[in-house]
Amino acid sequence: MNMRYQLKRVMGMVINCTMIFGGLLCAQDPGPAGAEAAHAKNVAPVDTAAVSPRPEGSIYMGGFRAPKIETVRVAVIGLGERGVPQTLHFLSIPHCEVVAVCDLFDDATKKVADRVEKSTGKRPAEYNKDPQAYKKMLAEVKPDAVIINTPWETHAQIAIDAMEAGAHAFTEVPMAITLEDIWRVVDTAERTKKHCMMLENCNYGRNELMFLNMVRQGLIGDLLHGEAAYIHELRRQMFSEDRGCGSWRTNHYAARNGNLYPTHGLGPVAQYMSLARGEDSFDRIVSLGSPAIGRAAYAKKRFPADHKWNKLQFKCGDMSNSIIKTKLGRTILVQWDETSPRPYDRKNLIQGTAGTLADYPLRVAGERISPGASETSGEGQPGGAEITGRGGYHEWYEGEKAEADLYAKYDHPLYKRLGEEARKNGGHGGMDYIMLYRVIECLHNGEPMDQNVYEGAFWSAVGPLSEKSVNEGGAPQIFPDFTRGDWKKTSPLPVIQ
Ligand SMILES: NC(=O)c1ccc[n+]([C@@H]2O[C@H](COP(=O)([O-])OP(=O)(O)OC[C@H]3O[C@@H](n4cnc5c(N)ncnc54)[C@H](O)[C@@H]3O)[C@@H](O)[C@H]2O)c1
Repeated sequence: MNMRYQLKRVMGMVINCTMIFGGLLCAQDPGPAGAEAAHAKNVAPVDTAAVSPRPEGSIYMGGFRAPKIETVRVAVIGLGERGVPQTLHFLSIPHCEVVAVCDLFDDATKKVADRVEKSTGKRPAEYNKDPQAYKKMLAEVKPDAVIINTPWETHAQIAIDAMEAGAHAFTEVPMAITLEDIWRVVDTAERTKKHCMMLENCNYGRNELMFLNMVRQGLIGDLLHGEAAYIHELRRQMFSEDRGCGSWRTNHYAARNGNLYPTHGLGPVAQYMSLARGEDSFDRIVSLGSPAIGRAAYAKKRFPADHKWNKLQFKCGDMSNSIIKTKLGRTILVQWDETSPRPYDRKNLIQGTAGTLADYPLRVAGERISPGASETSGEGQPGGAEITGRGGYHEWYEGEKAEADLYAKYDHPLYKRLGEEARKNGGHGGMDYIMLYRVIECLHNGEPMDQNVYEGAFWSAVGPLSEKSVNEGGAPQIFPDFTRGDWKKTSPLPVIQ
């Protein structure tokens, strides 16, 4: 990083970050100070359940339909590890064009603009070198949709600016990292009447879509319990020291303590349960973390003693555990660990009165789904024939044959429609492609988004609420009702054809 840029970065931080009294009014990664300011806000003794009345002129956005857009003009902000593949997906999605790209680094915008131009013959406008350049882009290009792939603490402000400029906003996960910023995003969406969808791609995974389809068919009965996780050892990201994910994410592991990345596992479970969508909603959460040891040990082992990572005090428990209680009394275990050396796992478990669906590996059990078990014959009971010979719900139905059987019977219609194209395009096994395809399809057809602004808000709120709970020894924290009581008006997400 050259001196001039570094100076600009520091100046920009002073000008752009008013972190103590306002929201995290910051469209750039402010380094360790940003994560520390977020933590201070998140553990402050405030009434998390407090909800102010919806201002006059603002509207409830559950089920919101925007006017149809013939060709969606897309602008992408943030072209790092996530933003580049996200942008390239749009090149094979109908009814859209990438009209502008923006990043702090000009080599990043050039690389992506070259790729877009090569594929479409049209070069998108490039904005770079300044953390505020995206505002110029919004004013000059006037995109219909803005895709935000920047560091966590910048999502909220960029989404707000995008909606204020007349665009629908799509933020990477999480939507925001403090309750105050989540509220600012919700309020702006309601006032500007623009979509703000948090891009939870895991809701479009093949197994997640299939489970949603199975749950909607009543195959596991009344829902009782879910398990959700993001367990992904990512310590190597610490080698991105000045640029890239580790350069900013590492500051969060140091300054905060809770579940900092809750939405990949929680999003799908929340939609199985139709939380904040007519049936049920988020009530409260309790959280406890393990000791914080792994990051400091890794820094000590892999970096020089005077390295910046060895100067941090890592506060965040390596394994974060939360339990959410819903208004209907259901429970959801939410875990997060990006530090411990263990296999990847999102859990993706949903349990009902008639059966359980789970992932990692894909497996199911239940009265209506296990071969050899049935509700009416009494099979599946302890001592039944199925235990000795045919399985039943005392054993998981799993393995290659079971997977093929389950996909053949229960694949979600959306996966049947887009799966082949998704596999060709890739992106976490195709889920990213299906998600972005649906974003454009909904904007083109004027349909509600599959994930409304309140779902992104509730799922993201686990971050700040878990920090507060951990800080208070596991004390329950009440979810704010971001819908202001209107979640009962929103239909559950249907099985999209
Ligand atoms: N859903 C998923 O599967 C998934 C996967 C990876 C990352 N992510 C999320 O995507 C986001 C980005 O992560 P990443 O790994 O790509 O990080 P990254 O550091 O590789 O990329 C972030 C980019 O944003 C740019 N940027 C920062 N501030 C900016 C500003 N004000 N204006 C324009 N550009 C700016 C940076 O220059 C950088 O290129 C994060 O929120 C992360 O959690 C999601």
